[in-house]
Amino acid sequence: MNTAEAKMQGKTLVVSGATRGIGKAILYKFAQNGVNVAFTYHKNEEEALKIATEVHELYGIKAKPYRLDILEPEQYVELFKQIDTDFERVDCFVSNAIIYGRSVVGGFAPFMRLKPKGLNNIYTATVLAFVVGAQEAAKRMKLVGGGAIVSLSSTGNLVYMPNYAGHGNSKNAVETMVKYAATDLGEFGIRVNAVSGGPIDTDALKAFPDYAEIKQKVAEQSPLKRMGNPTDLAGAVYFLCDPTQSAWVTGQTIVVDGGTTFK
Ligand SMILES: NC(=O)c1ccc[n+]([C@@H]2O[C@H](COP(=O)([O-])OP(=O)(O)OC[C@H]3O[C@@H](n4cnc5c(N)ncnc54)[C@H](OP(=O)(O)O)[C@@H]3O)[C@@H](O)[C@H]2O)c1
Repeated sequence: MNTAEAKMQGKTLVVSGATRGIGKAILYKFAQNGVNVAFTYHKNEEEALKIATEVHELYGIKAKPYRLDILEPEQYVELFKQIDTDFERVDCFVSNAIIYGRSVVGGFAPFMRLKPKGLNNIYTATVLAFVVGAQEAAKRMKLVGGGAIVSLSSTGNLVYMPNYAGHGNSKNAVETMVKYAATDLGEFGIRVNAVSGGPIDTDALKAFPDYAEIKQKVAEQSPLKRMGNPTDLAGAVYFLCDPTQSAWVTGQTIVVDGGTTFK
């Protein structure tokens, strides 16, 4: 085992929305490196339990799923109390879960069809969920002398994506919130950053009406000539949580977009 692995082994990650896509890839990346994982699901309890059993058997770490609805950010308060009873410490928090479907009606739409309710839902699930989750995590990180917080973001706040105004604006807002959190929490040894992804092949992207078109365009646009995978973002998140790799990185957004944003 190298020193970096040793530094992360026995720590605890809390990650939201880890039953699928990017959250699941993050969970596996940390578990492979000996990190215990408290993770959330929304509806997919069966898959969550399957994942918890699998990573325990494969990597010998502790993994436990909890139900969370990010449209009710205050649920994080109770959730962290449960985590306190199940885990010894909290070292890393990743705000990853995302809403789509009915709750984004009026938020995922062309500009002239945007509605306050849909936009508010996206803001709640993206920014307010990050704020409450990060506050609860930071209280625990202070007890162990520091930690790392990461929010997922997306390059839909840098380049136009059809229907993406609600998400793009909220991702902009969460990146700004990350900088404020980083500034206020630095004195406690807590670093706060964001990872902003270009389009990644997940269920959330499949919910876009123009999914096939986006997929083809991204592969054409990227100098690397392929679509992004969940594991492409998991590495950047792990880097930001590992103090042996990123001890002086805080208040930043790392863009992982396969080079698509420039083109
Ligand atoms: N896909 C992309 O192109 C892309 C690009 C850049 C950044 N991102 C960001 O990466 C993050 C993850 O996206 P993804 O594409 O990996 O999503 P995904 O594969 O669709 O997974 C979404 C996750 O969120 C959970 N979830 C859904 N509704 C929820 C709710 N109301 N409350 C709590 N959890 C809920 C789901 O749980 P259940 O399975 O239990 O329903 C699932 O675990 C998001 O923040 C997204 O903005 C995505």
